[in-house]
Amino acid sequence: MAAILHDIIATMRDKAVGEPADCVVSVAPIMRELLANAKSILGPEHYRANPDHYARNPVHIDEKGGLSLFAMVWSPGQWTPIHDHGTWGVVGVLDGILEERNFIRVDDRSHEFDHVKLARGGVILMSPGSVTSFVPNPDHIHVTGVADDRPSAVSLHLYGRVMNDYHVYDRDKGTRRLISVSMN
Ligand SMILES: [Fe+2]
Repeated sequence: MAAILHDIIATMRDKAVGEPADCVVSVAPIMRELLANAKSILGPEHYRANPDHYARNPVHIDEKGGLSLFAMVWSPGQWTPIHDHGTWGVVGVLDGILEERNFIRVDDRSHEFDHVKLARGGVILMSPGSVTSFVPNPDHIHVTGVADDRPSAVSLHLYGRVMNDYHVYDRDKGTRRLISVSMN
C-alpha cells in the first residue's frame, strides 16, 4: 500500500470512533484529503470499468474486518439496485457527476425483510470534490449511478466494515434481501 494511503487510512481508523453519525463527521473531511491525493494513491487497476455493471475496484480492505475503501467506476446508465449498507459510509467524487436517489421506508416494520413499503425521497448530484455520507439510522436507502446522458464517473467509497454484502429492495414485491456484492 502506498505510504500516503496507509497514513490516510490509519487516520480514518483512528477517527472512526463512537456512533456512526460521529464516525462520518470525523471521516468526511479526511475523504477530501483522499480525493486531493487520489492521483498519487490510485493506479490503473482502480479505474477499470465493466461494460455489464458499475465496477467496484478495491483500494484497501482491513484484514480484520474494519474499514474498506473502493474506487467505483460508473459508465453512463449504470446504477446500483435500491439498497442499504447496514453500516456508515463516506463517498467522494473524483470524476463526473454521481447521482444518488433516496428512498424512505414508510411501513412500520423497520429492518423486517417483507412487507416493505418505500416512498421516493430526494436526489443529490455530486461533482468532483463533493463528499457525502450516510448512517444506518435506521437504514439509508438509495440508488447510486450515472444518468444515460452524462459522462462516466469515478468515486471513492469508504465503509465502516468490509463491504461484501448489502440489502437490496424490490419495491414491487415489498422485499429486502441480503445479497453478496462482487468486486473486480
Ligand atoms: Fe450505497
